[in-house]
Amino acid sequence: MRPEEHPISPSLPWRTSSAFTMAMIGLLSRGFLHGLSRTEVNGLDGFLKLLDQRKDVEGRERGLITVSNHVSVLDDPMVWGALPFRYLRSPDNLRWGLGSYDLCFTNKALSTFFSLGQVLPTHRSKHSQFGGLFQPTIAQAIRILSKGPFIHSNDPPETPNPSLASPDISDPFASGHLTFSTNGTDTFPAPSAYLNRRHGWVHIFPEGKVHQKEDRTMRYFKWGVSRLILESNPCPDIVPMWIEGPDEVMHEAREWPRFIPRPLKRISITFGERLDVEKAFGDLRERWKRLHERESSNAPGGKLDVGVLTDGLKYAEEAVDLRKECTMRVREAVLKVRRQRGLSDEDPKVGLAETYRSEGTGKEGKMDDGSWVTDT
Ligand SMILES: *[C@@H]1O[C@H](CO)[C@@H](O)[C@H](O)[C@H]1NC(C)=O
Repeated sequence: MRPEEHPISPSLPWRTSSAFTMAMIGLLSRGFLHGLSRTEVNGLDGFLKLLDQRKDVEGRERGLITVSNHVSVLDDPMVWGALPFRYLRSPDNLRWGLGSYDLCFTNKALSTFFSLGQVLPTHRSKHSQFGGLFQPTIAQAIRILSKGPFIHSNDPPETPNPSLASPDISDPFASGHLTFSTNGTDTFPAPSAYLNRRHGWVHIFPEGKVHQKEDRTMRYFKWGVSRLILESNPCPDIVPMWIEGPDEVMHEAREWPRFIPRPLKRISITFGERLDVEKAFGDLRERWKRLHERESSNAPGGKLDVGVLTDGLKYAEEAVDLRKECTMRVREAVLKVRRQRGLSDEDPKVGLAETYRSEGTGKEGKMDDGSWVTDT
């Protein structure tokens, strides 16, 4: 497919429904934050300035990653209610999220709703053999952040893309969709296939689960975020964020009715400054690039598509080290915003995966250290 044949955007009915869904959710969130809660938003001006610069998709030069702590099941979408309504109306300039496959994509109605709401289906290893760092959805996120579009990333250039013809369970409209699969048989809209979705915005909660703790410390970060930073091209902008209060709105210990968000709580949402990514991650990206070049030269055709990894890039010691170091630096950036909020420093061991090993996998609810953990 030649570049001029790349579709600019999904079908009009799809876009309209998506814009409507995003705006409704945005309005509800905004109403809850500013009508039913006592909400304080810090650093919003700087963040809106960044969104303003990104308004024109053609003019964008890079993607955007926002990264934050995760304190309740409603963090996303609730925190985006901090944005003024005119931003909530422009889905092309709003976040893509990663949502649990086993919660958000269990049937066609939910799949459609969450796909329209710009959420990507993400398998969790605990619940699915398709989970983990190398699942197609992470590649999809990397591509959204990069300079797309990516239509037939895994096919040799001249074969027609089979996904062009595949039925799309998530698109209720006849016009069809470019799709990707998370498990080899399901199909989901592939946002990175469209020109107007390039250099997009992805939000990630690297803790991977809700963590509510009195002293407001975070769990360790999973490595998905490091893939987004190391592999997206060019390096996206990164804005660390800190959230407090949604844990009171949806405390894991709440009683009946559990599904009702509690009003009149104090909520604070802090947008940190955009990181100097060259300074923060330039050396790691350089090392990744060298590793990538070495590995690509052994790949068929001497080239690897964005988001596609060889075993060496998955498991070699250097690759693992880079992810570890990168993830640690991201966590440090989020901790810096936490510090701005006047919270005292954490015990360094709360940032280590080993600390949580005694939990065993699959445990939810109240932990021995007094925190509440939910798997979302
Ligand atoms: C992939 O997911 C779909 C939809 O959830 C399911 O019907 C199908 O059985 C899954 N395929 C595999 C190979 O697990």
